[in-house]
Amino acid sequence: MSELVLSESHGRVRVLTLNRPDKLNALNTALTEALVAWLEEADRDDAVSVVIFTGAGRAFCAGADIGEFADLTPDHAARVEHRAQLTLRSHLVFSRMKKPVIAAVRGAAMGGGAGLALACDLVVASENARFAYPEIKHGILPSIVMTNLTRQVGRKAAFELVSTGEAISAARAFELGAINKVVPDEKLMEATMALAQTLAGYKYEALFAIKQLFHKVVDVPLAEGLEEGRKSNVAMRAMYGAGTR
Ligand code: COA
Repeated sequence: MSELVLSESHGRVRVLTLNRPDKLNALNTALTEALVAWLEEADRDDAVSVVIFTGAGRAFCAGADIGEFADLTPDHAARVEHRAQLTLRSHLVFSRMKKPVIAAVRGAAMGGGAGLALACDLVVASENARFAYPEIKHGILPSIVMTNLTRQVGRKAAFELVSTGEAISAARAFELGAINKVVPDEKLMEATMALAQTLAGYKYEALFAIKQLFHKVVDVPLAEGLEEGRKSNVAMRAMYGAGTR
């Protein structure tokens, strides 16, 4: 862990900031490893209820570090496999965490950067945010980010994004239901923090249980989801009356 990711606490809200602004927070291996480590650390920390995830500087994240592509060739199979596993972990970690993660997005969210934003539970974007899956323009494909994209927007919109590589505005991403809120750029952190503090004001056992149940039921058949809901309903009875913390 290093200064590649900045970590700050505001009461029960932890703010994690990708800190490679000169490269628009492009995800090289070190930054991706640090991000996963800091997210997991925030999830373990009992003093934290909610995580805000953002990027330093004018962009949220410009996606995979193109400079590393030259080393990720079939003759370096172990390196390629390690990088693919790391990328997978960085996109899976959000749904595995018990604490809600809110992305605060300004400027470019490209490729893996768009993927990370949409992997968060909630997304607040500045009016200048732009989301794209430009891999096709590099002659490659948005492989690991594709699955979640298909779950966040309709199929036609998802296919348009991955097949054209063109960026969409924050307003369009909002229309598609991919993000929760669009605010003026100067209000981005204030609006995100207000949302985070609202969530952090609730009883954390209930908040964490809501997130865990959400991710258990969101992609399963109805009857399976209802069964998970029944189990949570029984477990929930122990929470009632314990008050807000
Ligand atoms: N990997 C590595 N470096 C990147 C990067 C990436 N994905 N995206 C941006 N950078 C670097 C640039 O090389 C530049 O570095 P330099 O100042 O040392 O030359 C710096 O970040 C600023 O980027 P720049 O392109 O000058 O900014 P811009 O405002 O003109 O354009 C973008 C912004 C996001 C449109 C443009 O940087 C871009 O298209 N980046 C690639 C996005 C992408 O394709 N991601 C998916 C990869 S599969």
